[in-house]
Amino acid sequence: MSDSDLLRAAREARRRAHAPFSGFKVGAALETVDGTIVSGCNIENVSFGLTMCAERVAIFKALSEGHRRFRRLAIVTGAAAPTPPCGACLQVLWEFGGDLDVILANLRRETGRHRLSELLPRPFDARFLK
Ligand code: THU
Repeated sequence: MSDSDLLRAAREARRRAHAPFSGFKVGAALETVDGTIVSGCNIENVSFGLTMCAERVAIFKALSEGHRRFRRLAIVTGAAAPTPPCGACLQVLWEFGGDLDVILANLRRETGRHRLSELLPRPFDARFLK
């Protein structure tokens, strides 16, 4: 699968974003190791703290459908600047997705490319619980 397939899925998901309060729409698309694409969009709530980010929607959907191993994540927003996942999403992605390749893009072009370990260099994870 090419980057553009994954980016297309993230852009499509972004169109389904429910973001009436911030106006900031986000789409995410995760590629599993078997080549399945699972997408997500942000879903806001009038009780603002209940809002869920696109990245966590995508990974929770994937996990609940039985996917456990992931390869890449594409994230699309409408911003000109690169928009990495928020801290909560980084934590959840690290725990389940490991050191994913993360492709950032807007509606026109790719804006950045990182390993998850670059975006979250000192993760708190299960190793500390031993
Ligand atoms: N948002 C995401 O979907 N992903 C992120 O990683 C950052 C923020 C959403 C949440 C909210 O609906 C809007 O963007 C503005 O914060």
